[in-house]
Amino acid sequence: MAFEPRSIPIDPDAKAALAHRGLEYRLIDPGDTAALDAWIDADHRGFHHARPRDVGQEYDRAVMSERRVHGVYDAGIAEPDVPVATVSSWPAGLSVPGGRSVDGWAVSSVTVSPTHRRRGIARALMEAELATAKRAGAAVAMLTVTEATIYGRYGYAPAAKSTTVEVDRRRARWTGPDAPGRVHFVEPSSLREQAAAISRRAVARTPGEIDRWPGALDRMLGLVDPESDSSRSLRALRYDDQHGQPQGFATFRVTREPNQPGWAEFDVLAAATDDAERALWRVLVEQDFVAGVRGLLRSVDEPLEWMLEDPRAVTVRDVADHLWVRIIDPAAALTARRYGAAGELVLDIDDPLGYASGRYTLLASADGKAVVHVPRGDAATPEPAAPQRERARARAAGESGGRAARAAEPRSIRLDVRDLASIYLGGVRPSVLARAGRITEASRGAIELAERMFASARTPHLSIWF
Ligand SMILES: CC(C)(COP(=O)(O)OP(=O)(O)OC[C@H]1O[C@@H](n2cnc3c(N)ncnc32)[C@H](O)[C@@H]1OP(=O)(O)O)[C@@H](O)C(=O)NCCC(=O)NCCS
Repeated sequence: MAFEPRSIPIDPDAKAALAHRGLEYRLIDPGDTAALDAWIDADHRGFHHARPRDVGQEYDRAVMSERRVHGVYDAGIAEPDVPVATVSSWPAGLSVPGGRSVDGWAVSSVTVSPTHRRRGIARALMEAELATAKRAGAAVAMLTVTEATIYGRYGYAPAAKSTTVEVDRRRARWTGPDAPGRVHFVEPSSLREQAAAISRRAVARTPGEIDRWPGALDRMLGLVDPESDSSRSLRALRYDDQHGQPQGFATFRVTREPNQPGWAEFDVLAAATDDAERALWRVLVEQDFVAGVRGLLRSVDEPLEWMLEDPRAVTVRDVADHLWVRIIDPAAALTARRYGAAGELVLDIDDPLGYASGRYTLLASADGKAVVHVPRGDAATPEPAAPQRERARARAAGESGGRAARAAEPRSIRLDVRDLASIYLGGVRPSVLARAGRITEASRGAIELAERMFASARTPHLSIWF
């Protein structure tokens, strides 16, 4: 998705709505350091974080200069140069099933000052982000959330979960296979370039991960403020395969009281191969003089318990919705991923904000590729010619002849745009949403077909906050 952050004009509806409340909606020029610094301060305050130190401020400036940064200003307050609301956004690929990526719009830094809450400021900002994302050509928007009740009203829904995994050291006897390569302790700074390449491959193979932005890895590796206590306590591991090629890395720190075994805690374990994942886990769980290992933002489908003699050494806690997705362009989103089964499925999508409303026919073939047809003719993919369509249908149904396909009407389901977001990456099963009364089938067998088509070989997972 080609994009220059400031190339899209400021959203006129949000500008007008906020002006009506006596507020100014402004797109920040990253070259205006004073305005950017005040914005960064407001963002930190909004999330109840301490003011950043100089190095942190410099880092934030660099990150934000790559994004679209909006602030809302109130000329009547004591410090009118500090925005009363913030939001930032940027284009990023979202990994989808089949090792592919969809053009996404990442939204972050959503804060409204407690002095200005519940006046519709967040609504104006969020609606503007959707309009801008559409103008930029994004098929989906995505975010991570502090509270699960804020974003459903804009069409976002949980699409990938994360969890905290704790391993009791005393019970963690490794029975998994040995990896053919080796794990090395390395200086975090030495990982800078290798980590970027490994992360790209790890992200690509995991639906739900988003492209890492410039600077994201510096934060993970403790390189933003290397002399801070938290950076100095960080230890880095790298896995090299049997040919000496780096295939994974992890960073962790041990927190402990004097004379007590501590806990080894990590939130970065990036593996481009299964061997790398296994080897890094093994070193992490087999450390001595720790009571256990705690992995944050881990997958709900972690293979770890299958590599330990005692699976009960592993405790999974804090299972939570983590990645929230908003489908903006169903045709582009649906064609971007690969499908678990061939089939023809009609989706009647309801979207109160209008972006995704309509009837979409999803036609997936046995190789997992799909085309999407929108009868009104405003879709990305034109309606296939009749014979072509028959052949595609027959292929999808796994039939050699066209007769059976001609006889069968496509199966169809009706769902809200949020439910489409939840099943999109394969993280939530359509049958579960059907049991919850959220997805309905207009023809028998449609839910069962959706179940098979939307299945993902790899459980979606997002391992960072953004
Ligand atoms: C969440 C936050 C941005 C909301 O801002 P706001 O300007 O007060 O929200 P609005 O007035 O535009 O409210 C829009 C809607 O969201 C609802 N809403 C707002 N905050 C909510 C919350 N924390 N929980 C549930 N609903 C919330 C409002 O009730 C309103 O509902 P309605 O339109 O259906 O009537 C603000 O409370 C905030 O800055 N919180 C701290 C930082 C944070 O958590 N940011 C979210 C990052 S993911």
